[in-house]
Amino acid sequence: MAALKRESFGGRVAVILAMAGSAIGLGNIWRFPYMVGEHGGAAFIVVYVLCTLIVSLPVFLSEVVIGRRSRSNASQAFSRLSSGSRFWKAAGVLSIAIPLIIASYYSVIGGWSLDFFFKSCTMTFVKTAPTQVSSIFDSIVSSGFENVSMHLLFLFLCAVIVAGGVRSGIEKFSKVTLPLLFILIVVIAIYSISLPGASKGVSYLFKPDFSQLTPRSFAFALGQSFYSLSLGMGAIITYGSYVKKDENLLAASSGTAISDLLFAILAGFAIMPAVFAAGIEPGAGPGLIFKSVPYIFSTMSSSLPVLSAVISALFFFAIVIAAMTSCISLLEVGAAFLVEKFSLKRPLAVAILYLLCGGAGVLCALKSSVFDGFDYLCSNILLLLLAFLVVIFVGWVMKKEDVEDEVTNSRTIRQADKLFPVIYFLIKWIAPAAVLLIFISNFIL
Ligand code: PFF
Repeated sequence: MAALKRESFGGRVAVILAMAGSAIGLGNIWRFPYMVGEHGGAAFIVVYVLCTLIVSLPVFLSEVVIGRRSRSNASQAFSRLSSGSRFWKAAGVLSIAIPLIIASYYSVIGGWSLDFFFKSCTMTFVKTAPTQVSSIFDSIVSSGFENVSMHLLFLFLCAVIVAGGVRSGIEKFSKVTLPLLFILIVVIAIYSISLPGASKGVSYLFKPDFSQLTPRSFAFALGQSFYSLSLGMGAIITYGSYVKKDENLLAASSGTAISDLLFAILAGFAIMPAVFAAGIEPGAGPGLIFKSVPYIFSTMSSSLPVLSAVISALFFFAIVIAAMTSCISLLEVGAAFLVEKFSLKRPLAVAILYLLCGGAGVLCALKSSVFDGFDYLCSNILLLLLAFLVVIFVGWVMKKEDVEDEVTNSRTIRQADKLFPVIYFLIKWIAPAAVLLIFISNFIL
């Protein structure tokens, strides 16, 4: 293959913002707050942080190591580093297929967010009676045309950014939107906490109840942390391949994990107090943001219609951005592959991906069984399988010196050098065992 000149991210901040953009998404907004509440509040957060430190961060670092060491797309990365082994070539195929499947249904949810943003701007929730507001989501889901067109529009917006390239598309977009996203979520959280009755939501989230922690909570915490950090999907391998040689991988990985956790907690503050203030039972999944939250805007609209419309528009705008930066990272996996493997021009590669994911997404938008099937297959099986292969690859197939070389930048980073034995132990032994355990627990717990 002709040596291609690869793009790279500008610097540490750009790397963290792009990776955090991938990590921060719908997983933080609709799953994290609910899981925390269901599994013992602050007690679950402690477990979540431990799982992230002990398992997810080593997996994250392994993906970045594979990316940067190979300096190639997720598919070819494995075969390059294993001198063309057939088995690892197959793992490479998996790492291209998974993100495309996810992008197909993730962009349907992105389409709902976009639709709700438009509806907020036209004051739909303000004008709808609270008892009717949840039917808005149901009618979008059951309407073929609106659902499909919003999905295609959302995917198109993401595709435009990816077509712009790594530096001038993805990096520029995340540099502007990620800080904006944090500002938005803080504003919404402050507003949400100030509502009468909000304190119940705060205690739902943060009152530690260790009695609610069960073995299942550990499996949930790990699964959530994997999904939230975009692990096992080829995305971090691909972004890792754009990290410059002198960048500190451990710092970039920890920076991403910290931003992701911080955002998830802020999203909890933004959503749960408002949900409780409105007297709604919190629930997981799309219902939380597309039914409960509009209900809140609808109930407050009689007293403050304009404020209600503005806050709801900001809220759904934040969700659109969070979903876009994640979906962009999914598309980039395929784009890097098509450009490098078949020497396609980036816009053509992105157009092909748009057709593929757009088409599969239309099926997801029209048939909930396809949507649920894709989600189940990816989140419960394929993601874990690829994450397992990643840590086995770094821990057992790659040479230890090569891994050390990447993590410590040829032993020039003192802290990473000191921590390396622990990190390597986690990658080699603890992470594979933990991934296997969650995989098994998905079927028996
Ligand atoms: N991490 C994203 C979220 O929490 O919503 C989801 C995601 C994005 C998963 C990108 C995988 C991925 F490659």
